Amino acid sequence: MSGKSINIAIDGPAGAGKSTIAKAAAKAFGFIYVDTGALYRAVAYYALSRGRDVSNAEAVESLLRDITPELKYMNGEQRVFLNGEDVSDKIRTPEVSMGASAVSAIPRVRDFLFDLQKKIAAENNVVMDGRDIGTVVLPDADVKIFLTASPEERARRRHKELTEKGQTVAFEEVLEDVNRRDYNDIHRDIAPLKQAEDAVLCDTTDADLQGAVDMLVNIISGKLNAKEC
Ligand code: DC
Repeated sequence: MSGKSINIAIDGPAGAGKSTIAKAAAKAFGFIYVDTGALYRAVAYYALSRGRDVSNAEAVESLLRDITPELKYMNGEQRVFLNGEDVSDKIRTPEVSMGASAVSAIPRVRDFLFDLQKKIAAENNVVMDGRDIGTVVLPDADVKIFLTASPEERARRRHKELTEKGQTVAFEEVLEDVNRRDYNDIHRDIAPLKQAEDAVLCDTTDADLQGAVDMLVNIISGKLNAKEC
């Protein structure tokens, strides 16, 4: 594998704890953790801040030429920049979550973000997390994992995260959001959320955070060691 960067693709539904779990796994291997959802969120944030209807493809497409998204890594943390502004915190609202789900169904938005994701993976050892990484962005990834948990457990985790950030949201609303986003992500025509044929399924419903990280690290080590043999 020398000379070529190592690419780990992690896909799965919203709120499976992918970001937290994948970030910890990336750290264990000394790889960069790439959260591709942040790029879709940045596009949605820009469209919403311009008062655009995020479900109107033409309205969003016409903005793309004005958007330069970038991912930067500071102290091992990913930060998302939009036209030079750090929007990492602004893209974490429920409104932007729904907006990201809508803009991610627009083919030209996916094309627009594709090259950036490929470039980062070509230049770095990465744990890249998204919905179509193993199927579309990195079909030749060294390891592919589909990370999931039940909708109720995912809503519980998301609700806890939002509450800890000081946002007041009802659990039922978060669960509805998770189910709606699942539906959108699974049923869209382009790059729908689905497990790649050669991905390992990792269900973390009954695992605590450390247990889930251990599951992921074990799968990755096992696969990378097998490749080296
Ligand atoms: O992982 P997240 O919740 O930050 O993702 C936000 C939205 O972006 C989600 O609804 C699905 C979409 N997305 C995508 O379509 N493809 C990716 N590779 C990553 C995210």
